[in-house]
Amino acid sequence: MFSSIKAKIIAFYLIVISLSLFLLGVFLYFSLEKIIYDSIDSGLLSRAKALSTLISEDGREFKFSDELMWEYSSPKTKAFFQIRKLDGTTIEKSASLKTGDLPFQRGEEAVSFKTIYLNKKPVRLINFPLSNLVIQCAESIEGKIELLENYRKILSLSILSLVIISTFGGFLIAKKALTPIKDISETISRISESNLSERVDEKNIPSELRGLAVSFNRTFDSLEKAFNRQKQFVSDASHELRTPLSVILSHSEITLRKERNTEEYKNALVAIKDAAKIMLNMTERLLMLARLSSDRAELKFEEVNLYSILKDVVKLLHPLAEQKGIKITIHADEQLTAIGDRATLLELFTNIIDNAIKYNIPEGEIEISIKEDEDYAVVEVKDTGVGIPEEDLDKVFDRFYRVDKARSGEVKGVGLGLSICKEIVRLHEGKIEIKSRVGEGTTVSIYLRRDKDGFQA
Ligand SMILES: Nc1ncnc2c1ncn2[C@@H]1O[C@H](COP(=O)(O)OP(=O)(O)OP(=O)(O)O)[C@@H](O)[C@H]1O
Ligand SMILES: [Mg+2]
Repeated sequence: MFSSIKAKIIAFYLIVISLSLFLLGVFLYFSLEKIIYDSIDSGLLSRAKALSTLISEDGREFKFSDELMWEYSSPKTKAFFQIRKLDGTTIEKSASLKTGDLPFQRGEEAVSFKTIYLNKKPVRLINFPLSNLVIQCAESIEGKIELLENYRKILSLSILSLVIISTFGGFLIAKKALTPIKDISETISRISESNLSERVDEKNIPSELRGLAVSFNRTFDSLEKAFNRQKQFVSDASHELRTPLSVILSHSEITLRKERNTEEYKNALVAIKDAAKIMLNMTERLLMLARLSSDRAELKFEEVNLYSILKDVVKLLHPLAEQKGIKITIHADEQLTAIGDRATLLELFTNIIDNAIKYNIPEGEIEISIKEDEDYAVVEVKDTGVGIPEEDLDKVFDRFYRVDKARSGEVKGVGLGLSICKEIVRLHEGKIEIKSRVGEGTTVSIYLRRDKDGFQA
């Protein structure tokens, strides 16, 4: 039961309220009791003092008036007195005591008050010692005790009612306070794969829970984006794979329709081979992207020499550059290192330099530089190619995106190179930036961390 927040709130609330009301009740009861007893005691003291003034100095004569005696002797009266010697011998006592006596203890030297029972009825008593006598005065407090008793009953009943009302109030408060949480949880359980766009209403939520709602919404935003990206990716990938597949299918069908000569069979097989090559290239890149997006454990981060990687890449791509008469130069601090996985960094720079060659003009140039920034080593690849229009700059990292398909038509590619680069840079906790001017050229800058401090991988 106490695992529920509501039960905990109510229980806590109930304990606090009951304890406070109980303490208040005890305080009120004892305050009233003290006031009543103080007033009785001061009355008794006055009585004793009054009696003492009527006793002669040697204590043998009493000048008690009839009026005074009547006050003590009426059968209905609730007041008593008894005058004793110090040894307890009674000298005088009120008629109201009849044959009884007020209790006496020898040796009491100071004025003292106590509650006693006379004929089973509660009575308040004062012992008032004089030099050689003790005056005892008493008064029935039956009525006062009854009053206190009633007061205690009313107080207990009031406290009990207040506790019951508070429990009910606590229940309502807990219910009201938890409603927004219930709303949030209901909204969240409504959100499913087919309904990813629903959000928790942030406006009508108490400020304490707004942070929670905002985090939930943010999480669902990124989930929805990731889900949509995934959907888009699957549909793009199937779409892109359709083209070479239809080429293969149509060439095979047409060729098989009738008997062909060797030349025709050869041509068909070449077309099929080209399409299959595109498919292979595409599936390899798709696999690489999937591997990079899902599994970073495969990467081995270590200190790598950037110059040596870039030299290897340039060597690898040299035949391609030579075909177009493109000159590649590297200006760099040959010792500069960064933290990274050598094989994936090789893939990264191959893609960037491959683009710089593919989208360059014949006899163009490529300048590669390696610089130091505060926390990063920065590799810049600058080409003198066709450039990228400004409106396409932020889209070139999207999967399958190729600027102006007609323009890129004659250049082979599937539009996955920069997506792979972006993924590799993300895994390295680095940055990739692209600047370009149509007709002038493009500069791609890659920032890689120089040391392991603050590196999460
Ligand atoms: N250096 C560059 N100069 C001009 N355009 C570029 C450059 N680099 C990239 N682009 C443009 O960005 C698009 C995306 O590049 P990306 O490398 O992702 O794909 P791709 O080169 O077309 O295909 P591949 O997957 O084979 O690399 C390219 O199609 C091209 O239009
Ligand atoms: Mg490319």
